[in-house]
Amino acid sequence: MSEQATRNSTTRRTVLQGAAALALASGPGTASAADSPGTVLITGASRGIGLEFAKRYAEDGWQVIATARDPKKAEALQALAKAHKNLRLETLDVTDIKAIDALAAKLKDVPIDVLLNNAGISGGAEKQKIGSIDYSVFDDVMHTNVLGPIKMAEAFTPHVAASKQKKIVSISSTEGSLTLISPRPDVNSIFYRASKSALNMSMINMAKALKDKGIIVTMQSPGLVSTDFVGSLRLPIMITPQQSVAMTMPIIARLTMEDTGKYYRHTGEVAPW
Ligand SMILES: NC(=O)c1ccc[n+]([C@@H]2O[C@H](COP(=O)([O-])OP(=O)(O)OC[C@H]3O[C@@H](n4cnc5c(N)ncnc54)[C@H](OP(=O)(O)O)[C@@H]3O)[C@@H](O)[C@H]2O)c1
Repeated sequence: MSEQATRNSTTRRTVLQGAAALALASGPGTASAADSPGTVLITGASRGIGLEFAKRYAEDGWQVIATARDPKKAEALQALAKAHKNLRLETLDVTDIKAIDALAAKLKDVPIDVLLNNAGISGGAEKQKIGSIDYSVFDDVMHTNVLGPIKMAEAFTPHVAASKQKKIVSISSTEGSLTLISPRPDVNSIFYRASKSALNMSMINMAKALKDKGIIVTMQSPGLVSTDFVGSLRLPIMITPQQSVAMTMPIIARLTMEDTGKYYRHTGEVAPW
């Protein structure tokens, strides 16, 4: 079956439980689509890859819980919420443990089929050049890219376990691969690379810990994507958020327990550690 066909068939699968529970917990901007394919919660949906995930899942009829640090300032996300009644906005800073617990409590009766840990920061390449490292960015990078996804996975385990699809997917990076690190002596972003390696290790732990609950935990590299994240960098291998998400959604759709603990590239290959 082609990737598109796989995506379409998964998209049509009915997840009445998630849709009904989300409708019960609904606020403004939430629709009760009984034939929704499932519920996805996305962190960092204000822009870039997270925004595109929110758009594509909403267009495909999913119940989308799009979280952002400051939804009021996220104009594109606001417009998306206006256009799609099946998309609701929630405020969430993934470094705020209490806020994560509060959102998990607020959504207590909502099964979440796909928890998408997307929010992430680079910390800025200039601040991570060996010889002139700015050590003040370490905590921000580690809190956002490692602690946030761990806490999200822990807090939302009951919601994911109560869903049909039971998937936790964290957007990692091949920058975190010990195998793929460039042999060049000028490689930078030491904290960012360490954070994505640590994220991978954390999620392998989660995969093992949550296997008994039937939860599939994977990591996903989105490719080199032209978002604010890469600043003005433009390279021939770069892809758009639209291309990245279009390639990644079918990978997420076909995940099974066989995949738990795996680290995928946007091309669908397993990435080397
Ligand atoms: N772009 C690439 O080439 C690339 C490559 C490999 C991996 N990735 C990964 O892909 C993910 C998304 O990156 P992107 O390219 O879409 O970057 P982006 O355009 O810079 O967007 C990052 C998103 O993360 C959010 N965010 C940052 N800190 C947060 C926090 N503490 N709590 C909640 N949200 C927070 C931002 O929200 P605000 O608007 O509030 O800042 C924004 O929505 C990241 O995990 C990144 O590491 C990207």
